[in-house]
Amino acid sequence: MVRGGTRTGLIGRRDERRVLDDLLAQARAGRSGVLVVRGEAGIGKTELLNHLVDRATGCRVVRAAGVQSEMELSYAGLHQLCAPLLSHLDDLPEPQRDALGTAFGLRAGDAPDRFLVGLATLSLLASAVGDEPLVCLVDDAQWLDRVSSQTLQFVARRLLAESVVLVLAVRESGTREILADLPELLVRGLDEHESRRLLDSVVTGPLDASVRDRIVAETRGNPLALLELPRGLTAVETAGGLGGPGTRPLSSRIEAGFLGRIRSLPDRTRQLLLIAALEPIGDVSLLRRAAERLGISVDTAVTHAEASGLITFGTWVRFRHPLVRSAVYRAAGLAERRRVHAALADSIDADLHPERRVWHLASATTGPDEAVAAELEATADRAYARGGIAAAAAFLHRAT
Ligand SMILES: Nc1ncnc2c1ncn2[C@@H]1O[C@H](COP(=O)(O)OP(=O)(O)OP(=O)(O)O)[C@@H](O)[C@H]1O
Ligand SMILES: [Mg+2]
Repeated sequence: MVRGGTRTGLIGRRDERRVLDDLLAQARAGRSGVLVVRGEAGIGKTELLNHLVDRATGCRVVRAAGVQSEMELSYAGLHQLCAPLLSHLDDLPEPQRDALGTAFGLRAGDAPDRFLVGLATLSLLASAVGDEPLVCLVDDAQWLDRVSSQTLQFVARRLLAESVVLVLAVRESGTREILADLPELLVRGLDEHESRRLLDSVVTGPLDASVRDRIVAETRGNPLALLELPRGLTAVETAGGLGGPGTRPLSSRIEAGFLGRIRSLPDRTRQLLLIAALEPIGDVSLLRRAAERLGISVDTAVTHAEASGLITFGTWVRFRHPLVRSAVYRAAGLAERRRVHAALADSIDADLHPERRVWHLASATTGPDEAVAAELEATADRAYARGGIAAAAAFLHRAT
């Protein structure tokens, strides 16, 4: 009745596309541009970023995404964005190079001055421009760690004539204003005609006209809802027997839809999804090591997981949507989450990612554990040295 996870191509969005295309044209002409793409969950922000990537021929593109569980790791988001550019670190004046190096944990040192880290980021982006414009994309910016968010805001206000495009996608979140005062693009629902087109692209069987109208009205043009709600309908419902409109917020109804699909998967496949949900780096080899530790036959589980359309395992692990990640998390019990955290802690390279390891270790522990508490304190010290006061406090909070 409802087709699987094929991509339809961008429907509508003429104005939004123009804004993005203008940014690229401007960068090609030697001017920088900044844009915050704002909108509710599933409205199409990531899709617009993908469109920008498709259009960015002849540009260098770097991407990062905020990850909810990494909000305590200082400079994690900025590091993700800048990692491919670090070969230009040597072009920077020494104080800036040291500040950024310390922020990223590449060298030891006192907590770097935030202003210097901001300047260093600015210099790094400028020196990475070279012959091609540089397009920097940050998705899910609402989940950036605080210092990364502040640094990017600092950078965004000072980009001028460097041929850099910086676009940040932010999920609208009540009153809390993230990345305020920057030029923004509000993404709204698709219009009725576009909504029907999107809906028709996924519903292959007959769909009662009144049901279709109702879905279009109820989703208010939210593409994710248009794609996902029909999946939850039974044959009776698509033929006209739909119940009253849902009273729960749309995102939780969509998440509930994902939850149902996750619950119907074999145990081992669900466990693999849980490992992916709890390990935000998205590193496939780490995930495989952790899965093997838990006795999962990885290849089979990967095949099943990909067939579900909820996740892909390419160079990096990618969930179909952030709501899949949260649904996977919810579908698991506390004991199961702890077991997975423990397997991840044991599989992670302690030299490369000491903070992540200790974070998994802490999440795997049921009660107070002296050894873990001591490691947490050491990590808090390191986070503090790197300038992450919020991170240091968060680690210490867990240690008590
Ligand atoms: N204009 C569009 N035409 C066709 N499909 C779209 C369009 N916009 C979004 N989609 C599809 O809708 C789904 C949700 O879009 P997307 O992931 O971009 O939302 P989002 O705003 O990034 O949500 P979140 O805040 O949760 O990250 C995706 O499957 C995407 O491919
Ligand atoms: Mg998104």
